[in-house]
Amino acid sequence: MQKLGDGIELGSGQAQLCHGILMKNALLDAGRSVLRAKGKVVFPTKKLTAKQLSGIRKTCPGARAVRRKFELRNEKPHSLREALQDKLPAKELAILPSSYDSLGDAVILELPDGLAGRAKVIADALLEISKPTKSVFIKTGAHSGLFRAEPVEFVAGEKKKFATYKEHGCAFRISLGKVFFSPRLSTERKRIASQIKEGEVVAALFAGVGPFPIVFAKNSKMAKAIAIELNPVAVEDMAFNIRENKAEGKVIPVLGDVNELSSRYEGLCDRAVMPLPKGGEDFLESAIRYINPKGGIVHYYQFVARENPFEIPRRQIAAACMKMGRDFKVLLERKVREYSPDIIQVVVDFEVWGK
Ligand SMILES: C[S@@+](CC[C@H](N)C(=O)[O-])C[C@H]1O[C@@H](n2cnc3c(N)ncnc32)[C@H](O)[C@@H]1O
Repeated sequence: MQKLGDGIELGSGQAQLCHGILMKNALLDAGRSVLRAKGKVVFPTKKLTAKQLSGIRKTCPGARAVRRKFELRNEKPHSLREALQDKLPAKELAILPSSYDSLGDAVILELPDGLAGRAKVIADALLEISKPTKSVFIKTGAHSGLFRAEPVEFVAGEKKKFATYKEHGCAFRISLGKVFFSPRLSTERKRIASQIKEGEVVAALFAGVGPFPIVFAKNSKMAKAIAIELNPVAVEDMAFNIRENKAEGKVIPVLGDVNELSSRYEGLCDRAVMPLPKGGEDFLESAIRYINPKGGIVHYYQFVARENPFEIPRRQIAAACMKMGRDFKVLLERKVREYSPDIIQVVVDFEVWGK
């Protein structure tokens, strides 16, 4: 079906630029289809004021206002921004986050202060555009406290206590708002799994709901992982996840403190993984204690400044090895991900032996 309406016509060379301006200012009419013919493009728009038109023409001089018959679109909007074109003013659309974390069928939205009162309309739009999404939550604070849990509030869809997230052939139950979980370390889990040799014993420190050790169990020939975690709710999720992923006997969940348990597992492990980027330095000596005197590998994560990112972790590793009377060799230094404008997350793999 067609409908007569306003539009902006211009040469296809400037189409992308013009589309960006129309989207940014919430002027595009997402209910009608774009027209294309003979090197020209016509975007369906809302009724434009003279000021809006002259603003567009400043960047796209060939643009002119027209009235045309457009095909009506009955397909769903493709992006969150498109779905909200008619529901939020331009200044709010401009600060809409361009990405969000999906934990399987649950989405955790992080909204800037300027959109705090808009959570429901945004969550409803997300449910409309994303078929796999069944529940939407908003982040109500940063990862905090000893357990690094992320406080969340339910906004729309199915209200539930757990999210189910799938990765590298494993599925994880995650108690929403009560435990730490980040899908952003998925590449690291696979990278380390691919290095684990047959028969290795791994210390999966700060194990959370078990993503590192369970991915190892499914994707390597390790003998077992001792998975140590302080948060009882995370340990409950981990025990559930071990059963669901058929990793019983391969992943041993242990509720407790990495420092306190280091004497129990002293020298028993071939590898230690330390995904505690904030504060991990306080556990470095203990992590080394888990490693067999014949030699083993530690994967050490840290948040660091962008400038000279490896300087501090290198110094921390050298100091801890010296204190423990161990030799070491750095095997790899890698930037893992962006964290904030000034901070990045890195990993340093080092081999340690002796004593
Ligand atoms: C950044 S999270 C990583 C969780 C998990 N490895 C993941 O990647 O999803 C750090 C975890 O360490 C746990 N934790 C903090 N201090 C601890 C300690 N002293 N001993 C054992 N676990 C600790 C927290 O409860 C949290 O689950």
